[in-house]
Amino acid sequence: MSMELPVELLTQQETAEDKVLTFEPKGFDDYLGQKAIKEKLKVYVQAAKMREEPLDHLLLFGPPGLGKTTLARVITHELDVGFKITSAPIIERTGDLVAILTSLTPHEVLFIDEIHRLPKNVEEILYSAMENFCVDVIIGQGAGAKSIRLPLSPFTLVGATTKTSLISGPLQTRFGIVERLDFYEPDELADIVKQNSDFLGLPILPEAALCIGRRARGTPRIVKRILRRVRDYAQVHKHSLVDLEVVNHALKFLDIDEDGLTKLDRRLLVHIIKDFDGGPVGLDTLAAMTGEDKDTIEEVCEPFLLRCGLLQKTPRGRQIPSKKLYSIRKKLIKDGQKFI
Ligand SMILES: Nc1ncnc2c1ncn2[C@@H]1O[C@H](COP(=O)(O)OP(=O)(O)OP(=O)(O)O)[C@@H](O)[C@H]1O
Ligand SMILES: [Mg+2]
Repeated sequence: MSMELPVELLTQQETAEDKVLTFEPKGFDDYLGQKAIKEKLKVYVQAAKMREEPLDHLLLFGPPGLGKTTLARVITHELDVGFKITSAPIIERTGDLVAILTSLTPHEVLFIDEIHRLPKNVEEILYSAMENFCVDVIIGQGAGAKSIRLPLSPFTLVGATTKTSLISGPLQTRFGIVERLDFYEPDELADIVKQNSDFLGLPILPEAALCIGRRARGTPRIVKRILRRVRDYAQVHKHSLVDLEVVNHALKFLDIDEDGLTKLDRRLLVHIIKDFDGGPVGLDTLAAMTGEDKDTIEEVCEPFLLRCGLLQKTPRGRQIPSKKLYSIRKKLIKDGQKFI
């Protein structure tokens, strides 16, 4: 039985700019940082290859831009198998997922981004696919309807999500490997700067690379974004070597402060201090006050602010730790913010 695979179901989620003219890690050696996870995955990949079996299903958690999709590609490269990529929001019907599953070749990696957003009935199709490599589909309607079982090629599902809390229990327990990517350290990000600047043929001083690493909020995607602006600045101003001055200019253009906080991070902090005396304030109210999408605040800003200890989540809402209130206020005033 052959099924036509809707092309739009297999998409590239990364932005075009991320992919243009920047280095993309191929194997484990190019995937920098995340040492503990990498060590474990190397063993699992090698064992799967030795047994000539597909790798166990893998669930990757972590804030945007930390390298979930990239890690899935790296694993695929190391396994030397095929790769299909899709995203949960575009899989609307069970038939969509069945079409993708039945098109998989043996040991292929199927990457489903934002896997927490699969509709319940579609998610249930995954259960037997993951456990027994088969799917049950209903053919026909009414009294004549019958269920047939379609066998699938043994495959590896890699699911990625930024929202840990939204993965259902039954789905999570079907993943043999569950890993959480954490923010990168500045020196690891400096290595990623170097990797990309070498690729671009852009000489950069170690202190300039580390400065980018410190201000990229622990995130490789932001490293790459900053580096692109650095490159623009260096090119236009005819700098053949990237030093601290060039980096500082680029960071100013991007409105990233010395702690890596963006304009939106700072706006959130200002609202919490100015309008709510440091909090607590609910997410909905914050979104309304800043005019920002709730998901952006929750998935992009908060993880970093929480990690820096600039924000706390309490049952009554978000608040700035009282110990930090004074120093954050001072910092924002220095940046030109008025509180009266
Ligand atoms: N460990 C790493 N070493 C080198 N480059 C990396 C690493 N992790 C990520 N990158 C680079 O950072 C960019 C963002 O990574 P990626 O798209 O995989 O993040 P993501 O976690 O899938 O984000 P999202 O949640 O938005 O889908 C990519 O262009 C990738 O090349
Ligand atoms: Mg991704």
